[in-house]
Amino acid sequence: MCEKLPPRISLIGFMGSGKSSIGRLLAGKTAYTFIDLDELIEERTGKSIPEIFARDGEELFREYESEALYSLSDTAKLIIAAGGGAAVQPANRKFFLNQSYTIYLKVSFKEFLKRTRGRTNRPLLKKPLADIETLYLDRLPLYRQVGREIVTDGRSLEEITREIISRAARDGSL
Ligand code: S3P
Repeated sequence: MCEKLPPRISLIGFMGSGKSSIGRLLAGKTAYTFIDLDELIEERTGKSIPEIFARDGEELFREYESEALYSLSDTAKLIIAAGGGAAVQPANRKFFLNQSYTIYLKVSFKEFLKRTRGRTNRPLLKKPLADIETLYLDRLPLYRQVGREIVTDGRSLEEITREIISRAARDGSL
């Protein structure tokens, strides 16, 4: 079954949608290599994500993010967990449409709050709640534009992983 899978599968969606956890499970089941885009950026810059936001600013972070994403364009057998803001830049959306088979992991705002409570490693969570909700609402149509939607609320990571594999195998190509 795995021979029929597209060469790259990307996971997009808001913070707390399960991109990294599901990505790791997917990689295990497909024998693809798992790439966490934030970790790749951290490795390449030698700085943590909070450090990048604090020292370089979000704009530069978005450049690192785009560079990291496009550096994967020609590599096959990858599962890419992108950061929650990666689908905001139009150039990145082109990547998700043309260079990868892209799944949008949908999480409700309520569930996002539950899953990220007490986490300190995401600079954007320091914003006021109303601003985070606006960010969430603004991003929904962008995720939908480039990703095949899968609802995550109330479902196990295993179940979601199985659904992604069967959809990707059925669709076959990008
Ligand atoms: C961001 C999400 C984070 C990380 C950075 C910015 C965003 O990734 O890329 O803090 O803009 O939503 P996760 O979605 O993996 O938390």
